[in-house]
Amino acid sequence: MANKIGEGGFGAVYYANLRGEEAAIKKMDMEASKEFLAELKVLTHVHHLNLVRLIGYCVEGSLFLVYEYIENGNLTQHLRGSSREPLPWSARVQIALDSARGLEYIHEHTVPVYIHRDIKSANILIDKKFRAKVADFGLTKLTEVGNASLPTRLVGTFGYMSPEYAQYGDVSPKIDVFAFGVVLYELISAKEAIVKAYGSVAESKGLVALFEEAFDEPDPKEGLSKLIDPRLGDSYPFDNVFKMAQLAKACTQENPRLRPSMRSIVVALMTLSSNTEDWDVGSFYDKQAVVNLMSGR
Ligand SMILES: Nc1ncnc2c1ncn2[C@@H]1O[C@H](COP(=O)(O)OP(=O)(O)OP(=O)(O)O)[C@@H](O)[C@H]1O
Ligand SMILES: [Mg+2]
Repeated sequence: MANKIGEGGFGAVYYANLRGEEAAIKKMDMEASKEFLAELKVLTHVHHLNLVRLIGYCVEGSLFLVYEYIENGNLTQHLRGSSREPLPWSARVQIALDSARGLEYIHEHTVPVYIHRDIKSANILIDKKFRAKVADFGLTKLTEVGNASLPTRLVGTFGYMSPEYAQYGDVSPKIDVFAFGVVLYELISAKEAIVKAYGSVAESKGLVALFEEAFDEPDPKEGLSKLIDPRLGDSYPFDNVFKMAQLAKACTQENPRLRPSMRSIVVALMTLSSNTEDWDVGSFYDKQAVVNLMSGR
Protein backbone atom coordinates (compact mmCIF):
# COMPACT_ATOMS: atom_id res chain seq x y z
CA MET A 1 0.00 0.00 0.00
CA ALA A 2 1.25 3.47 -0.81
CA ASN A 3 0.73 6.56 1.38
CA LYS A 4 2.19 5.18 4.57
CA ILE A 5 2.05 7.86 7.26
CA GLY A 6 3.35 6.08 10.29
CA GLU A 7 4.31 2.90 12.05
CA GLY A 8 3.47 1.99 15.62
CA GLY A 9 3.53 -0.91 18.02
CA PHE A 10 0.51 -2.61 16.49
CA GLY A 11 1.13 -2.08 12.78
CA ALA A 12 1.41 0.54 10.07
CA VAL A 13 -0.88 3.50 9.35
CA TYR A 14 -1.81 4.60 5.81
CA TYR A 15 -3.54 7.64 4.36
CA ALA A 16 -6.60 6.92 2.23
CA ASN A 17 -9.18 8.94 0.42
CA LEU A 18 -12.48 7.08 0.55
CA ARG A 19 -14.96 8.63 -1.86
CA GLY A 20 -13.74 12.11 -1.07
CA GLU A 21 -13.37 11.52 2.65
CA GLU A 22 -9.93 11.45 4.15
CA ALA A 23 -9.12 8.57 6.46
CA ALA A 24 -6.21 6.99 8.29
CA ILE A 25 -6.22 3.21 8.00
CA LYS A 26 -4.37 1.15 10.53
CA LYS A 27 -3.36 -2.32 9.41
CA MET A 28 -2.98 -4.42 12.52
CA ASP A 29 -0.25 -7.05 12.74
CA MET A 30 -2.58 -9.34 14.65
CA GLU A 31 -5.81 -11.19 14.32
CA ALA A 32 -8.78 -9.91 16.24
CA SER A 33 -10.71 -12.25 18.48
CA LYS A 34 -14.51 -12.31 18.50
CA GLU A 35 -14.49 -10.36 21.75
CA PHE A 36 -12.34 -7.67 20.26
CA LEU A 37 -14.58 -7.29 17.23
CA ALA A 38 -17.47 -6.77 19.62
CA GLU A 39 -15.36 -4.23 21.46
CA LEU A 40 -14.64 -2.37 18.20
CA LYS A 41 -18.33 -2.04 17.58
CA VAL A 42 -18.68 -0.26 20.92
CA LEU A 43 -15.74 2.00 20.08
CA THR A 44 -17.35 3.23 16.86
CA HIS A 45 -20.08 4.74 19.04
CA VAL A 46 -17.76 6.83 21.20
CA HIS A 47 -17.81 10.44 19.98
CA HIS A 48 -15.99 13.38 21.44
CA LEU A 49 -14.34 16.43 19.88
CA ASN A 50 -11.04 15.54 21.52
CA LEU A 51 -10.94 11.86 20.58
CA VAL A 52 -9.88 10.55 17.18
CA ARG A 53 -12.99 8.92 15.82
CA LEU A 54 -13.03 5.28 14.77
CA ILE A 55 -15.17 5.34 11.63
CA GLY A 56 -15.21 1.61 11.06
CA TYR A 57 -13.19 -1.56 10.66
CA CYS A 58 -12.90 -4.54 8.41
CA VAL A 59 -11.39 -7.98 8.57
CA GLU A 60 -9.91 -9.14 5.31
CA GLY A 61 -6.82 -11.21 5.88
CA SER A 62 -5.70 -8.67 8.46
CA LEU A 63 -7.69 -6.40 10.69
CA PHE A 64 -8.02 -2.85 9.37
CA LEU A 65 -9.20 0.06 11.49
CA VAL A 66 -10.50 3.15 9.72
CA TYR A 67 -10.07 6.45 11.59
CA GLU A 68 -10.88 10.04 10.77
CA TYR A 69 -7.75 11.59 9.29
CA ILE A 70 -6.08 14.28 11.41
CA GLU A 71 -4.05 16.41 9.05
CA ASN A 72 -1.36 18.05 11.10
CA GLY A 73 0.78 15.26 12.54
CA ASN A 74 1.30 14.19 16.13
CA LEU A 75 2.55 16.11 19.15
CA THR A 76 5.98 14.44 19.12
CA GLN A 77 6.58 15.80 15.63
CA HIS A 78 5.53 19.30 16.67
CA LEU A 79 7.75 19.31 19.74
CA ARG A 80 10.82 17.62 18.32
CA GLY A 81 10.52 17.61 14.53
CA SER A 82 13.06 19.92 12.92
CA SER A 83 10.78 20.73 10.01
CA ARG A 84 8.07 22.23 12.23
CA GLU A 85 7.72 25.71 13.63
CA PRO A 86 7.98 25.73 17.44
CA LEU A 87 4.56 25.65 19.11
CA PRO A 88 3.82 28.90 20.95
CA TRP A 89 3.08 28.56 24.66
CA SER A 90 -0.63 29.30 24.31
CA ALA A 91 -0.95 26.47 21.73
CA ARG A 92 0.75 24.10 24.19
CA VAL A 93 -1.72 24.97 26.94
CA GLN A 94 -4.62 24.47 24.52
CA ILE A 95 -3.24 21.08 23.43
CA ALA A 96 -2.91 20.04 27.09
CA LEU A 97 -6.50 21.11 27.79
CA ASP A 98 -7.88 19.38 24.68
CA SER A 99 -6.16 16.09 25.47
CA ALA A 100 -7.23 16.32 29.11
CA ARG A 101 -10.84 16.71 27.98
CA GLY A 102 -10.59 13.67 25.71
CA LEU A 103 -9.20 11.62 28.56
CA GLU A 104 -11.73 12.92 31.06
CA TYR A 105 -14.44 11.77 28.67
CA ILE A 106 -13.25 8.16 28.45
CA HIS A 107 -12.57 8.03 32.20
CA GLU A 108 -15.89 9.42 33.33
CA HIS A 109 -18.52 9.48 30.64
CA THR A 110 -18.33 6.38 28.46
CA VAL A 111 -20.06 3.09 29.10
CA PRO A 112 -18.02 1.03 29.73
CA VAL A 113 -15.40 3.38 31.11
CA TYR A 114 -12.02 3.17 29.38
CA ILE A 115 -8.46 3.48 30.56
CA HIS A 116 -6.26 4.48 27.64
CA ARG A 117 -3.01 2.88 28.87
CA ASP A 118 -0.83 4.31 26.13
CA ILE A 119 -0.92 8.07 26.58
CA LYS A 120 2.14 9.68 25.02
CA SER A 121 2.86 12.54 22.65
CA ALA A 122 2.78 10.23 19.58
CA ASN A 123 -0.83 9.38 20.46
CA ILE A 124 -1.93 13.02 20.58
CA LEU A 125 -2.81 14.20 17.09
CA ILE A 126 -3.00 17.83 16.01
CA ASP A 127 -5.49 19.24 13.52
CA LYS A 128 -5.07 22.22 11.23
CA LYS A 129 -6.35 24.62 13.88
CA PHE A 130 -3.80 23.24 16.34
CA ARG A 131 -6.46 21.57 18.42
CA ALA A 132 -5.60 18.15 19.85
CA LYS A 133 -7.29 14.77 19.72
CA VAL A 134 -6.36 11.64 21.63
CA ALA A 135 -5.73 8.61 19.39
CA ASP A 136 -5.83 4.87 20.00
CA PHE A 137 -8.04 4.65 23.07
CA GLY A 138 -9.54 1.21 23.52
CA LEU A 139 -6.85 -0.41 21.40
CA THR A 140 -4.97 -1.95 24.29
CA LYS A 141 -8.02 -4.17 24.80
CA LEU A 142 -6.68 -6.10 21.81
CA THR A 143 -3.84 -7.47 23.90
CA GLU A 144 -6.02 -7.77 26.96
CA VAL A 145 -8.86 -9.80 25.45
CA GLY A 146 -6.07 -12.06 24.46
CA ASN A 147 -5.01 -14.28 21.71
CA ALA A 148 -2.61 -16.85 23.08
CA SER A 149 -0.64 -16.99 19.84
CA LEU A 150 0.24 -13.31 20.07
CA PRO A 151 3.68 -12.36 21.20
CA THR A 152 2.99 -10.47 24.40
CA ARG A 153 3.41 -6.79 23.88
CA LEU A 154 4.10 -4.73 26.92
CA VAL A 155 1.12 -2.42 26.96
CA GLY A 156 2.15 1.17 27.43
CA THR A 157 5.38 2.89 26.57
CA PHE A 158 8.60 3.12 28.52
CA GLY A 159 9.04 6.52 30.12
CA TYR A 160 5.29 7.05 30.52
CA MET A 161 4.54 4.06 32.76
CA SER A 162 3.53 4.71 36.32
CA PRO A 163 5.50 2.86 39.00
CA GLU A 164 2.54 0.78 40.25
CA TYR A 165 1.79 -0.41 36.71
CA ALA A 166 5.41 -1.15 35.81
CA GLN A 167 5.98 -3.05 39.07
CA TYR A 168 2.70 -4.77 39.86
CA GLY A 169 0.60 -4.36 36.74
CA ASP A 170 -1.95 -2.36 38.78
CA VAL A 171 -4.38 -0.73 36.38
CA SER A 172 -6.56 2.28 37.22
CA PRO A 173 -7.38 5.58 35.51
CA LYS A 174 -4.45 6.96 37.49
CA ILE A 175 -1.98 5.29 35.10
CA ASP A 176 -3.30 7.62 32.37
CA VAL A 177 -2.97 10.57 34.76
CA PHE A 178 0.68 9.69 35.31
CA ALA A 179 1.36 9.41 31.56
CA PHE A 180 -0.50 12.67 31.00
CA GLY A 181 1.82 14.34 33.53
CA VAL A 182 4.79 13.16 31.45
CA VAL A 183 3.15 14.72 28.37
CA LEU A 184 2.83 18.02 30.29
CA TYR A 185 6.57 17.88 31.04
CA GLU A 186 7.15 17.26 27.32
CA LEU A 187 5.09 20.33 26.44
CA ILE A 188 7.27 22.41 28.75
CA SER A 189 10.66 21.02 27.79
CA ALA A 190 10.16 19.42 24.34
CA LYS A 191 12.36 16.62 25.67
CA GLU A 192 11.67 12.91 25.20
CA ALA A 193 10.10 10.94 28.06
CA ILE A 194 13.42 9.19 28.44
CA VAL A 195 16.34 11.55 28.13
CA LYS A 196 19.55 9.88 26.97
CA ALA A 197 22.43 11.56 28.73
CA TYR A 198 25.57 11.63 26.58
CA GLY A 199 23.64 9.66 23.97
CA SER A 200 23.88 6.42 25.95
CA VAL A 201 20.94 4.32 27.11
CA ALA A 202 22.79 3.30 30.28
CA GLU A 203 22.94 6.94 31.37
CA SER A 204 19.36 7.67 30.45
CA LYS A 205 16.95 9.33 32.81
CA GLY A 206 13.20 9.75 32.87
CA LEU A 207 11.71 13.17 32.34
CA VAL A 208 9.90 12.83 35.67
CA ALA A 209 13.21 12.38 37.53
CA LEU A 210 14.75 15.27 35.63
CA PHE A 211 11.99 17.66 36.69
CA GLU A 212 11.99 16.41 40.28
CA GLU A 213 15.70 17.20 40.51
CA ALA A 214 14.97 20.68 39.21
CA PHE A 215 12.24 21.16 41.83
CA ASP A 216 14.69 19.99 44.52
CA GLU A 217 17.20 22.70 43.68
CA PRO A 218 17.55 25.51 46.25
CA ASP A 219 15.60 27.72 43.86
CA PRO A 220 13.00 25.49 42.12
CA LYS A 221 12.04 28.28 39.72
CA GLU A 222 15.59 28.58 38.53
CA GLY A 223 15.79 24.79 38.23
CA LEU A 224 12.66 24.79 36.11
CA SER A 225 13.79 27.60 33.84
CA LYS A 226 16.76 25.47 32.72
CA LEU A 227 14.35 22.82 31.45
CA ILE A 228 12.04 25.08 29.41
CA ASP A 229 12.12 24.40 25.67
CA PRO A 230 14.74 26.78 24.24
CA ARG A 231 12.64 27.12 21.09
CA LEU A 232 10.14 29.15 23.13
CA GLY A 233 12.75 31.90 23.42
CA ASP A 234 11.48 34.47 25.91
CA SER A 235 7.90 34.15 24.72
CA TYR A 236 6.23 32.51 27.67
CA PRO A 237 4.66 33.63 30.94
CA PHE A 238 6.92 32.02 33.52
CA ASP A 239 4.25 31.75 36.24
CA ASN A 240 1.99 29.90 33.86
CA VAL A 241 4.76 27.45 32.91
CA PHE A 242 5.55 27.00 36.61
CA LYS A 243 1.91 26.17 37.34
CA MET A 244 1.81 23.63 34.53
CA ALA A 245 4.99 22.04 35.90
CA GLN A 246 3.39 21.82 39.35
CA LEU A 247 0.35 20.16 37.81
CA ALA A 248 2.62 17.68 36.03
CA LYS A 249 4.32 16.99 39.35
CA ALA A 250 0.98 16.24 41.01
CA CYS A 251 0.07 13.90 38.12
CA THR A 252 3.31 11.94 38.37
CA GLN A 253 3.30 11.34 42.13
CA GLU A 254 4.34 7.87 43.16
CA ASN A 255 1.14 7.20 45.08
CA PRO A 256 -1.67 6.87 42.51
CA ARG A 257 -4.30 7.94 45.04
CA LEU A 258 -2.64 11.31 45.48
CA ARG A 259 -2.74 12.05 41.73
CA PRO A 260 -5.61 14.31 40.66
CA SER A 261 -8.49 13.00 38.55
CA MET A 262 -8.73 14.03 34.89
CA ARG A 263 -11.74 16.09 35.87
CA SER A 264 -9.77 18.31 38.22
CA ILE A 265 -6.89 18.46 35.73
CA VAL A 266 -9.31 19.87 33.15
CA VAL A 267 -10.40 22.53 35.65
CA ALA A 268 -6.78 23.45 36.46
CA LEU A 269 -5.88 23.69 32.76
CA MET A 270 -8.94 25.83 32.04
CA THR A 271 -7.67 28.36 34.56
CA LEU A 272 -4.18 28.22 33.06
CA SER A 273 -5.62 28.65 29.60
CA SER A 274 -7.64 31.73 30.49
CA ASN A 275 -4.55 33.28 32.10
CA THR A 276 -2.53 32.51 28.98
CA GLU A 277 -5.05 34.34 26.84
CA ASP A 278 -4.62 37.40 29.05
CA TRP A 279 -0.91 37.03 28.72
CA ASP A 280 -1.04 36.77 24.93
CA VAL A 281 -3.11 39.92 24.71
CA GLY A 282 -0.78 41.61 27.21
CA SER A 283 2.30 40.69 25.25
CA PHE A 284 0.64 41.97 22.10
CA TYR A 285 0.03 45.33 23.72
CA ASP A 286 3.59 45.42 25.02
CA LYS A 287 4.90 44.78 21.55
CA GLN A 288 2.56 47.40 20.17
CA ALA A 289 3.83 49.87 22.75
CA VAL A 290 7.39 49.16 21.65
CA VAL A 291 6.43 49.57 18.00
CA ASN A 292 4.72 52.85 18.83
CA LEU A 293 7.76 54.10 20.69
CA MET A 294 10.07 53.13 17.87
CA SER A 295 7.92 54.83 15.30
CA GLY A 296 7.76 57.91 17.48
CA ARG A 297 4.04 57.75 18.24
N1 LIG B 1 -6.12 9.17 12.54
C1 LIG B 1 -4.90 9.55 12.16
N2 LIG B 1 -4.75 10.62 11.35
C2 LIG B 1 -3.51 11.01 10.97
N3 LIG B 1 -2.37 10.41 11.34
C3 LIG B 1 -2.45 9.33 12.14
C4 LIG B 1 -3.71 8.84 12.58
N4 LIG B 1 -3.48 7.78 13.39
C5 LIG B 1 -2.15 7.62 13.44
N5 LIG B 1 -1.51 8.54 12.68
C6 LIG B 1 -0.04 8.69 12.50
O1 LIG B 1 0.58 7.44 12.43
C7 LIG B 1 1.56 7.31 13.47
C8 LIG B 1 1.64 5.87 13.91
O2 LIG B 1 0.46 5.56 14.63
P1 LIG B 1 0.37 4.30 15.58
O3 LIG B 1 -0.77 4.52 16.49
O4 LIG B 1 0.42 3.08 14.76
O5 LIG B 1 1.74 4.35 16.36
P2 LIG B 1 2.20 5.16 17.64
O6 LIG B 1 1.14 6.14 18.00
O7 LIG B 1 3.57 5.71 17.38
O8 LIG B 1 2.33 4.05 18.72
P3 LIG B 1 1.19 3.13 19.39
O9 LIG B 1 1.13 1.89 18.57
O10 LIG B 1 1.71 2.87 20.75
O11 LIG B 1 -0.06 3.91 19.35
C9 LIG B 1 1.07 8.28 14.55
O12 LIG B 1 2.07 8.67 15.43
C10 LIG B 1 0.54 9.42 13.71
O13 LIG B 1 1.59 10.28 13.33
MG1 LIG C 1 -0.87 5.59 18.13
